[in-house]
Amino acid sequence: MTAKVLVTGGAGYIGSHVVKALGEKGYQVLTYDSLVTGNPWAVLYGDLVLGDLLDAKKLQEVISDYRPDGVIHFAAHIVVPESVAQPLKYYVNNVQGTLNLLSAMIKCGVTKLIFSSSAAVYGVPERVPVPEAAPLQPINPYGHTKAMVEQVLKDLSAVGEMDYVSLRYFNVAGADRDGRIGEGKEDATHLITLATRAAAGKRSYLSVFGTDYPTPDGTCIRDYIHVEDLAEAHVLGLEYLLQGGESEVFNCGYGKGYSVLEVIEATKQVTGVDFPVKYEGRRPGDPPVLVADSQKIRARLGWVPASDDLDRIVYSAWRWEQKRKVDVKC
Ligand SMILES: NC(=O)c1ccc[n+]([C@@H]2O[C@H](COP(=O)([O-])OP(=O)(O)OC[C@H]3O[C@@H](n4cnc5c(N)ncnc54)[C@H](O)[C@@H]3O)[C@@H](O)[C@H]2O)c1
Repeated sequence: MTAKVLVTGGAGYIGSHVVKALGEKGYQVLTYDSLVTGNPWAVLYGDLVLGDLLDAKKLQEVISDYRPDGVIHFAAHIVVPESVAQPLKYYVNNVQGTLNLLSAMIKCGVTKLIFSSSAAVYGVPERVPVPEAAPLQPINPYGHTKAMVEQVLKDLSAVGEMDYVSLRYFNVAGADRDGRIGEGKEDATHLITLATRAAAGKRSYLSVFGTDYPTPDGTCIRDYIHVEDLAEAHVLGLEYLLQGGESEVFNCGYGKGYSVLEVIEATKQVTGVDFPVKYEGRRPGDPPVLVADSQKIRARLGWVPASDDLDRIVYSAWRWEQKRKVDVKC
């Protein structure tokens, strides 16, 4: 019998790559998504149930009918500046939505959860590469929502009501190797997506926010992880839990950082397009350097990334961007 997995937010960017990875490995998958930012075309395996985490009754019915062996929980709002401007929207969706999910799972005896956390829980880390044991000190409401959910999970785990793996993603980028899915949000905010869109002529220029950070070239340094390697981390995390593994938190990144200017240079090289770049002031709340210490996930889950290469990440995003059409919502 193959395991049954419920994926909230499976129609979104990262969720859809995980649905694909699970489907390819023979898992039964059901996606629960409101399509607030997701796309039905992105769900390549299993059925898509149109539903909101905030519709507790429907969520309960779906879990009760499907009886998954485990849940992978992506559904959330994800834009940091928007979370600063509209905090309640983020606390309601990301925290209340997750509480609804956890309550429904516990009522149905479903106790295995993979949670999409974020490097945003670290705020401005005291040392980099940042280990999982670093203090959680988020600097924006988005980061707080992720840290709050992690606290809830820790407390539930302590009384045996939930076994979870919390994956703290660093900067996720790229698209699937078959070119079928990728970042579909028109208003996406991540650097590699925006750079490849500028290269494709879908944006007139690319903004660089801050050139006076204490880094070698003055721009921020981030740890970019290919979305397919991240998908594999979810599959490994799920297998770990299904085999009886205890609750754990893992960073997901390569442990290597690139500056904004290095990413722009790589994108220009890979695409062959010299797109315009505009230099602007710093954005509030951007830490200068965010790089993962990823030794724990490598050692404990046997995670071996296959695409730890900036050019490769950029190339996959570029291939997708050239193909991507503007979505028609159903
Ligand atoms: N993209 C990144 O670099 C990054 C980094 C760290 C953490 N994360 C986390 O990964 C997860 C997925 O991010 P993504 O980039 O794929 O975002 P996304 O917006 O592409 O996907 C989120 C999905 O959740 C759905 N959704 C949102 N609220 C919902 C609700 N109330 N009910 C049902 N469905 C709902 C959306 O329709 C969408 O399909 C999020 O939890 C995010 O916080 C992402």
